[in-house]
Amino acid sequence: MRVGVIGATGLIGRHVARELTERGHGVRAFGRSSQKLPAIVADERIALAAGNDWRRLLEGLDGVVLAIGAVSGPDMMEAHRTLPDLVADAASGLGITRLVFVSAIGAAPDAPTLFLRSKSEGETAITSRRLPGWTILRPSLVYGPGGRSMEFLARLAALPARPRIASGPIRPIAVDDLARAVAALLEGGQDLPAAIDAVGPERMSIDDYIDALGKRIGSRPIVTARLPGPLLSLAGRAADIVGPTLLSSDFLLMLREGADGDPEALPRYCGVRPSGLAEGLARLSVPRRRR
Ligand SMILES: NC(=O)c1ccc[n+]([C@@H]2O[C@H](COP(=O)([O-])OP(=O)(O)OC[C@H]3O[C@@H](n4cnc5c(N)ncnc54)[C@H](OP(=O)(O)O)[C@@H]3O)[C@@H](O)[C@H]2O)c1
Repeated sequence: MRVGVIGATGLIGRHVARELTERGHGVRAFGRSSQKLPAIVADERIALAAGNDWRRLLEGLDGVVLAIGAVSGPDMMEAHRTLPDLVADAASGLGITRLVFVSAIGAAPDAPTLFLRSKSEGETAITSRRLPGWTILRPSLVYGPGGRSMEFLARLAALPARPRIASGPIRPIAVDDLARAVAALLEGGQDLPAAIDAVGPERMSIDDYIDALGKRIGSRPIVTARLPGPLLSLAGRAADIVGPTLLSSDFLLMLREGADGDPEALPRYCGVRPSGLAEGLARLSVPRRRR
């Protein structure tokens, strides 16, 4: 196949580009940064600019992966809403039969965060032009080298006073497992469901996840400290003022809501069974402990 990967400079996109290349497919990688693009494993690299003609950019492709996103600001609305709309329009016009849109667990029109509501708008853009081989993939927390949430939480795991954060259940999934799932969904000739959860096998809290990261980096806290909700909200609001950072009110709210999903969905639709957290962390390189 010849597959276009949009957002190829991101955590998920660059692993998808590498996985597809290793499986013998041609990859046309799209990204905004001419500094990051050369490092992406692909045989064509296209730098995006304002006012792209998506029909021309997607010509000759058999499949498309949309793995773009941002935590806040104008980038977020462009990545979550505008680009999926333009890409879906071009891909359906060109008759591209396979498409995977990477969304997120919890995307819904009435979700509590703008992040998830805007993701839901992107989902609608895809669904309204949907061909039978197109699907929306909804991951829980994705971990892997260079992943921003993992790096942030690994920093917390390395603190001598390890914070405890009230959270809903999550099911972390390793980015290489997710990339294998995306490739398998593109390769399969069968019709796909409108949306598929992409989650790991273990249901846990963020505290469990931070502990697993701590174990992997060899960090043992002297004490653990539960962070009071109002203090966290204050930190989130302060971060909102600073600009697009991970520690935003939306991120904290999403942690509180959790990101649980159906662990049988990926095995069912593409034969990929994601590994457990300890196995995934052992396989992937994780940040070293800061001294
Ligand atoms: N990582 C997770 O835990 C997780 C969990 C659930 C869902 N997801 C979803 O999966 C998608 C990809 O996540 P990720 O972890 O790979 O994110 P990431 O590492 O932050 O990468 C985001 C990608 O989107 C691109 N992008 C951002 N704004 C853009 C814009 N306005 N126009 C064009 N490209 C833009 C970035 O390009 P630049 O390199 O040029 O900035 C980058 O390639 C996101 O939609 C995210 O919501 C991620």
